Amino acid sequence: MSEFLPRKDAYNVAVVGATGTVGQTMLDLLAERDFPVADLIPLASSRSAGSTIEFKNREYIVQDLANFDPSDLDIALFSAGGDTSIEYAPRFAAAHCYVIDNSSAWRMHDDVALIVPEVNPHALTMANKNHIIANPNCSTIQMVVALKPLHDAVPIKRVVVSTYQAVSGAGGRAIKELATQTRSLLSGKSAEVEVLPARIAFNVIPHIDVFMDDGYTKEEHKMMDETCKIMEAEIAVTATTVRVPVFYSHSEAVNITFTEAMTAERARHILAQTEGICVVDDPENEDYPLASDAAGTDPVWVGRIRDDHSCPNSLHLWVVADNVRKGAALNAIQIAEILVR
Ligand SMILES: NC(=O)c1ccc[n+]([C@@H]2O[C@H](COP(=O)([O-])OP(=O)(O)OC[C@H]3O[C@@H](n4cnc5c(N)ncnc54)[C@H](OP(=O)(O)O)[C@@H]3O)[C@@H](O)[C@H]2O)c1
Repeated sequence: MSEFLPRKDAYNVAVVGATGTVGQTMLDLLAERDFPVADLIPLASSRSAGSTIEFKNREYIVQDLANFDPSDLDIALFSAGGDTSIEYAPRFAAAHCYVIDNSSAWRMHDDVALIVPEVNPHALTMANKNHIIANPNCSTIQMVVALKPLHDAVPIKRVVVSTYQAVSGAGGRAIKELATQTRSLLSGKSAEVEVLPARIAFNVIPHIDVFMDDGYTKEEHKMMDETCKIMEAEIAVTATTVRVPVFYSHSEAVNITFTEAMTAERARHILAQTEGICVVDDPENEDYPLASDAAGTDPVWVGRIRDDHSCPNSLHLWVVADNVRKGAALNAIQIAEILVR
């Protein structure tokens, strides 16, 4: 693979959206993984400019993105929403800074690399052209990590996925909304709905992102379109994405049809050998991946691996991962690690 950045002991890194749910986790992971940071620049909107964040036991003042000059940057980790990425990512890229963007703004552009390091690191070479790299949708990332080693063994024809997505996927305000509504309802008061499309406490909402003309949501389209781009394969994917009252970790019921035979036993063996995946699949002892166990961890957890008796060459998986870590911040930092390797 070509080298992306000149070899240095450490690199200037900006975190755009440093005060947000994903941005905070990016800061934690940069420190935890000892990423070679020379200068760290936390950026956000004018709302939080002047406030402080902590990185490696030092306080840093959050700067206003609108007034920031990116000329001295090597890498910018963007997690401040699509509109911010559309406006600022090209400006940062023009200054020869590699932008790793968590929003959906650039993911499906033909000349933008959409990367999951365990799946398609080779596609990163595309970033030499335009310096913008897209981080996929959180639900897509954890699913393709599980699909890829199986697809390499026997090509996948079709995937039917239903998601059970945590509120943290909708940002810090949605996390607060679940906590506040739960407290209110348990105190006999009514629940105010401000962030998510319906009451999330003690409820399940089959609606993530906006509805499209075909009746699917944009979140469902992201899973269907991004999976094929990342896997570089024409797989028929259909999705139903659902918000559940869980703070961290998305869970997914994934049904896969292969072009030829793939048994649950073989799939379990392949997945257990794959880096980045932990198989927890012991029905006798009632052991399977749980959102509560996956929260705060890095791997993609897979269990409930079983043959689908209703359809030839098909099986079911239950796939769980921390959406803020592997689904966003960790995946972005793994990409940055390739850039400086
Ligand atoms: N949460 C997830 O699991 C997840 C997964 C994948 C992708 N993403 C994507 O990551 C992005 C951030 O998500 P989040 O969950 O961290 O949201 P969040 O908790 O709401 O945080 C949003 C961050 O963006 C900043 N921001 C908003 N508007 C800005 C502007 N005009 N200029 C500069 N900074 C601005 C905010 O700064 P202020 O403090 O100044 O408001 C804050 O730091 C979104 O694009 C989201 O789709 C999230």
